Amino acid sequence: MQIEIPPHGGKLINAFVAGSAADALRERARSMPQIHLADRRLSDLEMIGCGAFSPLDGFMKRADYDHVVVNKRLANGLPWTIPITLAVTSDEAENLEIDSEVALVDKFENILAVLQLEEIYRYDREREARLVYNTTDEAHPGVRNLYHRGDVHLGGRIQVLQERVDQTFKEHRLTPERTRRAFAERGWRKIVGFQTRNPIHRAHEYITKCALETMDGLLIHPLVGATKDDDIPAEVRMKCYQVLMDNYYPGDRVMLSVLPAAMRYAGPREAILHALIRKNYGCTHFIVGRDHAGVGNYYGTYDAQYIFDEFEPHELGITPMMFDNAFYSPTVGSMATEKTVPAGAERVSLSGTKVRQMLMDGQAPPPEFTRPEIAQVLIEAMRTKNN
Ligand code: ADX
Repeated sequence: MQIEIPPHGGKLINAFVAGSAADALRERARSMPQIHLADRRLSDLEMIGCGAFSPLDGFMKRADYDHVVVNKRLANGLPWTIPITLAVTSDEAENLEIDSEVALVDKFENILAVLQLEEIYRYDREREARLVYNTTDEAHPGVRNLYHRGDVHLGGRIQVLQERVDQTFKEHRLTPERTRRAFAERGWRKIVGFQTRNPIHRAHEYITKCALETMDGLLIHPLVGATKDDDIPAEVRMKCYQVLMDNYYPGDRVMLSVLPAAMRYAGPREAILHALIRKNYGCTHFIVGRDHAGVGNYYGTYDAQYIFDEFEPHELGITPMMFDNAFYSPTVGSMATEKTVPAGAERVSLSGTKVRQMLMDGQAPPPEFTRPEIAQVLIEAMRTKNN
């Protein structure tokens, strides 16, 4: 018998409306006031709609928002570490009324969803930056994004009428319901999820394979929503993942699917969110390596692991698998971490900046750092971009 891991809060949300209810709502929506969504706000809508953000069934109202920012929990006490809010400008909010319905539309004027507007509230961006990102420095990409959002939040439940029309990687864009079904069909009971916003270098490959040694299956789950400008674009990363899937991972024990979320770069707090999301997708375990979801020097190397101690394991309901910084060690002739090499062992280590520079110069990083086939995909992408 297959025992599935329960979603966060116990019930997988599906905010889609169908059939005659959808027809009636769509008809009504034509005369509702509209809010235009793009990019990050579209990602959040998709995440809520498909249940990836369960138990959220809409954009946060003030009580949840405040609790999350201050206590890392929803108002009902359930762990949740990043606000999921719909920020609009005061101008956009001006003609909206509480307890009315608002159409959420894309740039082509498709009505994607309807928001049951329950609250309109102001919020303190600097407080959110300080508490959620641990910095108010606008050089932090998550903080910069926060500071450029509207100054008012619209809170309430959403009802989704249609998928966004610009979905990429359709065949790999599995909803939580579909990954859960896929795991059950494969008979996997212990599944480890792997979040990434990078190509899979040897260190990533090593930790995923170490984890897989004790699991039934591995879900490679790259984030494909908005990232910062100097991150490698998702299309290029997908080519890298495919090369690895075809040649270096066992096809019957590994699945590749994408996560439509946007990156926040909130380090420790985002690590918890990333874990809860993967629980919703049906994973029982989740990899947290070094500087998970970090950027620059804003977070300590292992802060994203320490934050898990702030919660009881049963509250999170998914088990983190922690990994130290991984590297290739010529001394022992394999990938390793500090935990597995003798003192003073040599290591191949390269900074992200150095790797980017090498690739831009058409130079492949050492094969112990990046597999040559992956380096070729990246060099080719840099060349095309610069031409
Ligand atoms: S992240 O923003 O998605 O965390 P990245 O794609 O680089 O960035 O990392 C994916 C996962 O691999 C994270 O859990 C991260 O901590 C882990 N990781 C990345 N590089 C290493 C490394 N050299 N050693 C150990 N873990 C790593």
